[in-house]
Amino acid sequence: MMDYLDLSDLSDERLEAVLALATRLEARPYGDALKGRTVGLLFMNPSVRTLASMQAAVTQQGGQTFVVTPGSGSWKMETRDGAVMDGEAAEHVREAIPVLAQYADLLGVRCFAEGKDLGTDLADGLIRTMADLCPKPFMNLESARAHPCQALADWKTLDDLTIPRKGGRFVLSWAWHPKALPYAVPASALEMAVRRGMDVTVLRPEGFALPAEVMDRARTIAARTGAHLRETSDRVEGMDGAHAVYVKSWAAPQFYGRPAEEAVLRAPLRDEWCVRESWFDVAERDAKFLHCLPVRRNVKVADEVLDGPRSAVIREAGNRMHVQKALLIELLGGHRR
Ligand code: CP
Repeated sequence: MMDYLDLSDLSDERLEAVLALATRLEARPYGDALKGRTVGLLFMNPSVRTLASMQAAVTQQGGQTFVVTPGSGSWKMETRDGAVMDGEAAEHVREAIPVLAQYADLLGVRCFAEGKDLGTDLADGLIRTMADLCPKPFMNLESARAHPCQALADWKTLDDLTIPRKGGRFVLSWAWHPKALPYAVPASALEMAVRRGMDVTVLRPEGFALPAEVMDRARTIAARTGAHLRETSDRVEGMDGAHAVYVKSWAAPQFYGRPAEEAVLRAPLRDEWCVRESWFDVAERDAKFLHCLPVRRNVKVADEVLDGPRSAVIREAGNRMHVQKALLIELLGGHRR
C-alpha cells in the first residue's frame, strides 16, 4: 500500500497491525523508524490536532517535516481543473503536488469539501486527483468525504476504553452548530463503527439524515461485518443502552450548498440538540462521549459532559499521534528498532 485515502485502504489484517503498532508506540513513543525521512504537509484548511500530531509523530521517530499553508505565508492554490487563474490563486495543485513530492518521502494533504455540490463532494475526487499527482506515498488528512486518520484514532480509542466491537452500542449523534458542516467526520466515524461490527444508531433530527450514499456505503460494510445499523430522530430510543456516543454536526443534504435555506431548518434545533448529561439517562452507566474536536462548548455539548468522567475527547486526540505514527511507518516501509 502506498496511499492512505480512506479506512477501506487498510485490509482487516493491516488495520489490526497498524492498531497494534500504535499501541506499542504509545508505550514507547521515541525511536528512529523515520530517521532520514521527510514528510511534507500541505494544509489547504486550518488545523490544530492534525498538523501538530503529524509533526510530533514524525519528529519522535527521527524524521522531519515541512508545512505549506496556502494563503498564509504560501501562494494561494487553485484546485479546479480548467480554471482561468486570474484571481487570488497564483499556483495550481497540478504543479504544487509534484513539486512538493520531490522534497518529501511522503505527502499528507488536508483539503475540505467545497460545500457547493453534494455529489461532487461525496465523490471525493479532489483528494484522489492530488494522490494521483503525487509519485510518493500520500496520506489524506481530511478530505471532502473522509477523515481516515480520525477514524483510525477513534477505533483505537474505543478499543482502549474496552468498548466491545461485536455487541457494543455506538451512537453517532447530530448536534447543533451555527454552520452547515461537511460529512467527512461523520461518514468516517460511521464507517469505522460498522467496520468494527458494532450495533450502530445514527441519531439525528428530521431533515438531517446522512446522505443516501453515506448510509448505503455503511450498509454494505455492515453486511460484511455483521454490524447492525439503524436511524432514528427519537433521542431516548437512540441513546438507549449506548456504550459510546460520537457527536458531530453535519449539513442537511437537501439544502447542501444553500446555507441560508438550511439555516431556517437548523435554527429551531439549537437548544434541543446540545448534548447534556441528561441525554445519558438511558445509556449504559459508563457510556463514553467522543468528539473529534474542535468543539464549541455549550453550543454542541455542555461543559458538564466535556468536563465529566465520560468524556474521551483528550484520549481521542492523543490517539491521533499514535495511529498516524504507525501509519507513517507502515506507508514508508519503516520498522522499529
Ligand atoms: N480532529 C481534527 O482533525 O482536528 P483539527 O481540525 O484541529 O486538525
